[in-house]
Amino acid sequence: EQIEKNGFDHFMLKEIYEQPKAITDTYRGRMLVEQGLIKMAGVDDNLEKFLNAKRIVIVACGTSWHAGLVAEYIFEDLARIPVEVEYASEFRYRNPVIDKDDVLIAISQSGETADTMAAIKLAKQKGAFVFGVCNVVGSSISRETHAGAYTHAGPEIGVASTKAFTTQITVLSLIALKLAKAKGTINNTDFHYYLQELEIIPDKITKALESNEHIKAVAEKYKESANFLYLGRGFNFPVALEGALKLKEISYIHAEGYPAAEMKHGPIALIDEQMPVVVIATKKGHYDKVVSNIQEIKSRKGKIIGIVTEGDENVRELADYVIEIPDSTEAFTPLLTTIPLQLLSYHIAVMLGKNVDQPRNLAKSVTVE
Ligand code: G6P
Repeated sequence: EQIEKNGFDHFMLKEIYEQPKAITDTYRGRMLVEQGLIKMAGVDDNLEKFLNAKRIVIVACGTSWHAGLVAEYIFEDLARIPVEVEYASEFRYRNPVIDKDDVLIAISQSGETADTMAAIKLAKQKGAFVFGVCNVVGSSISRETHAGAYTHAGPEIGVASTKAFTTQITVLSLIALKLAKAKGTINNTDFHYYLQELEIIPDKITKALESNEHIKAVAEKYKESANFLYLGRGFNFPVALEGALKLKEISYIHAEGYPAAEMKHGPIALIDEQMPVVVIATKKGHYDKVVSNIQEIKSRKGKIIGIVTEGDENVRELADYVIEIPDSTEAFTPLLTTIPLQLLSYHIAVMLGKNVDQPRNLAKSVTVE
């Protein structure tokens, strides 16, 4: 096992550090930047189904569901296709309206999650075209779906999903870009720009990982907290959910993720000097709004950990700590903002002496309903 961990203390840390390579493996051979082309057999062979779909329904569980939420923002923004994201476990218990004009995308690292499988079977019965995004080659879900694309993240051993999440977002971004190009919702110049931006994400993740020691210091400071709040907007709202889930899963600290602006409708009541609030405040679309959210937290004495674009001085002045990530086009910022949140939860769990790779009560794949 020590050999498999490749010098890292835990599989989770190894897998966090594998993300630059995993994402490169995900897009390699598919994204041809020079030619301005994305080749994905599962999509190419079924392009009409995607283009004629009146909407895309995404089903998944856990971290994969969060990847689906990020994909919702990316698909709608780039390809202008309406997307709904459902918990697979809820989907089939509410007589869902789905038919042959819908495309269902099922996301699953293991490809074995029982609830996701059941949602796929129901969608197929109703005539929908079902596309799988799985990591495990030959898994049950990859065989049950009509077509699919593997994430190629390599084996993920840590129960808390890390590289599966970022590679799922990568595959879904490739699909969204491909459809956007085919539909003409983005022009060739923008398409090319997005390909170039995606191509350099692995290098930017490597850069983001350099904050590891700093993140460890932040973990040391807040590891005894009973609660954490995670806030984000737009593309980074699902990252806030994922950051909170990571902390819950491995450190057993209660954490909630919220869209930053929803804070005033409830969570703000919880904020006092005991409450660390992780705020994703990258310098993009909703930056000014997020900064005013930060001011609201500060005036209630909450402790602020800002995830910011490098060079940001504004949030630095307000926050107790900032963790920088490289700048990127907004749609791909989740691939970067996720990294410090993974490391923060990892270090807190290690400091609290928890079993990081095999947290209590959790399983890597849930094959029962
Ligand atoms: C379990 C795992 C999670 C995972 C979820 C969905 O709860 O502990 O890490 O996100 O199942 O798994 P899947 O294999 O379908 O992505």
